[in-house]
Amino acid sequence: MLSNKIIVALDGITTEKLLEIANSLKEYVWGFKVNDILYENLSIIDQLKKLGRVFVDVKLHDIPNTVSNTVRRLSLKGVDMITVHASGGIDMMKAAKEKAGDSKIIAVTVLTSLRSLNAEKKVLRLAEEALEAGVDGIVCSSHELQVISKIPEMKSKLKIVPAIRPSWYAEADDQIRTTTPKEAISAGADYLVIGRPITQSENPLEAVKRL
Ligand code: C5P
Repeated sequence: MLSNKIIVALDGITTEKLLEIANSLKEYVWGFKVNDILYENLSIIDQLKKLGRVFVDVKLHDIPNTVSNTVRRLSLKGVDMITVHASGGIDMMKAAKEKAGDSKIIAVTVLTSLRSLNAEKKVLRLAEEALEAGVDGIVCSSHELQVISKIPEMKSKLKIVPAIRPSWYAEADDQIRTTTPKEAISAGADYLVIGRPITQSENPLEAVKRL
């Protein structure tokens, strides 16, 4: 079922609105991804854990020791997935993995908001480094996923695709390398990260059902 593959990005909304949306979607999606709300309300992790899985998209990028300290704290809070930037390097990704406990470490390759020349080549190189570091999965656009899916070791890794824009949602917003849910699934995505097409909808549950 597609809904088991949906991670809802709960960006730029109040705690109240965020919990209202999460409550309405909890039976229909894999879980919830948070970032900016953490700077206002860290207990949102515990609140969301009661409703589903929690993906903390902090895209860590620092020296290995600093990244591993943050990962350890988030892991102790029971988050299911934590993101790091693959461009932080193999040692940084390894350090994150060492302190991750039961949390999965997901390496972000090239941001989908970038109009990147040679995106495929860059994503391929970063994905290879992420594999070498032993992370649990990667984030890339569905365009590059077709290329990296050919690496045999990638089979056992989680492949997560953001910048999903269904045909009924006209805005690309700040995203450049967008894709429809269908294209992302055909390219081999395990999970689709979807934010504004759901959260900006008048009825987020209807939007998920439509997806
Ligand atoms: O609202 P929208 O569907 O564009 O949200 C996409 C989400 O995926 C955002 O939370 C964004 O931070 C995240 N993301 C992304 N591109 C990446 C990695 C994460 O858009 N490469």
